Amino acid sequence: MQNHNPNPPIIGIIYPGEMGSTLGRLLVEHGFHVITTLEGRSPRTRRLCAEAGLNALSTFAQVVNEAEIVISLVPPDAAIETAEHFYNVAPTLETPPIFVDANSVSPFTMARIEKLMEQCGAPLIDASIHGLAGRLAEQGTLFLSGPGANDFAAMMSGVVRVEALGCRIGAASMFKMMLSGIAKGLVGLFVESGLAAREAGMLEQFIGHCRYYYPGWMEAVERMLPTLPRHVRRRAAEMEEVERTIQSLGIPPDIAAGSRHLYHLLGERGLPEHAETHDLGSATVSELMELIGSAISVRRSAVPAVKECFVLS
Ligand SMILES: NC(=O)c1ccc[n+]([C@@H]2O[C@H](COP(=O)([O-])OP(=O)(O)OC[C@H]3O[C@@H](n4cnc5c(N)ncnc54)[C@H](OP(=O)(O)O)[C@@H]3O)[C@@H](O)[C@H]2O)c1
Repeated sequence: MQNHNPNPPIIGIIYPGEMGSTLGRLLVEHGFHVITTLEGRSPRTRRLCAEAGLNALSTFAQVVNEAEIVISLVPPDAAIETAEHFYNVAPTLETPPIFVDANSVSPFTMARIEKLMEQCGAPLIDASIHGLAGRLAEQGTLFLSGPGANDFAAMMSGVVRVEALGCRIGAASMFKMMLSGIAKGLVGLFVESGLAAREAGMLEQFIGHCRYYYPGWMEAVERMLPTLPRHVRRRAAEMEEVERTIQSLGIPPDIAAGSRHLYHLLGERGLPEHAETHDLGSATVSELMELIGSAISVRRSAVPAVKECFVLS
């Protein structure tokens, strides 16, 4: 659906990584004027920005100066730093743009961002996106909350599926934490058991039986596993936010913590770099588990006695 507003607002995307470039492209397709900057960004973001055909200005400050709405889409552990960067530029402006934090962060991180925006006089919208960037248009949902959430939801409703969750900052982040905990936790559990099955020489049987007994779960695993190797560090950061959210509600976050630990370990062992030379788009679940297993490189010689008891020949 095309945007019918004759004067659509200028939207700044900070930064055009995977999600930022995808959302930016969708906004352009719907008639919005989108600006961004590549200041300080890596060749990967430069490539994604060029592929999405976004208009890149020279500096972050220029984007904040020209945009009416600035959408932050960075790794969760860079959300505060990005809001601070905005905070340092915005007070020089008569009317600071609306700041939309669309990162997968906890309500606590959002509360810190809320303070910064209050101090610099910029309206804030709490946003979160559920669904993979690659399927944003078809299956993604943009959750929104905060005083301006309904207006922003009306503006975005033709672009992606939107759901406004009221006027409280923190509600959209909270909702995302709950959904992320499920999605990333389920994949974490699959990877952990799958690695054990691989070590025991039962990987194919394990995958086959998971498909038979848990088809819904496997549908999610098959959707999310191909993007895990490249995004494992970001998912570790996101699970840390989930963990903090659960803990703050007085619930032991042990399962979230376990997934966070596994993702962190895979990141430390260089899974993203390991995956760079592979085309993961068409990889099977079994090939992906082999890749993850080789990155984690379980020291086979370290556990021979236990392993030999269980390995099927
Ligand atoms: N991708 C998805 O499918 C998806 C789905 C739902 C929600 N999200 C959320 O969307 C947000 C962005 O995710 P993404 O997948 O687009 O990540 P991404 O592809 O890694 O892109 C992140 C962007 O932020 C930049 N960046 C990295 N470190 C930064 C820092 N310290 N300060 C400022 N900018 C920094 C990156 O630039 P460089 O190239 O220089 O590193 C890149 O342009 C996250 O909060 C994520 O949870 C993503």
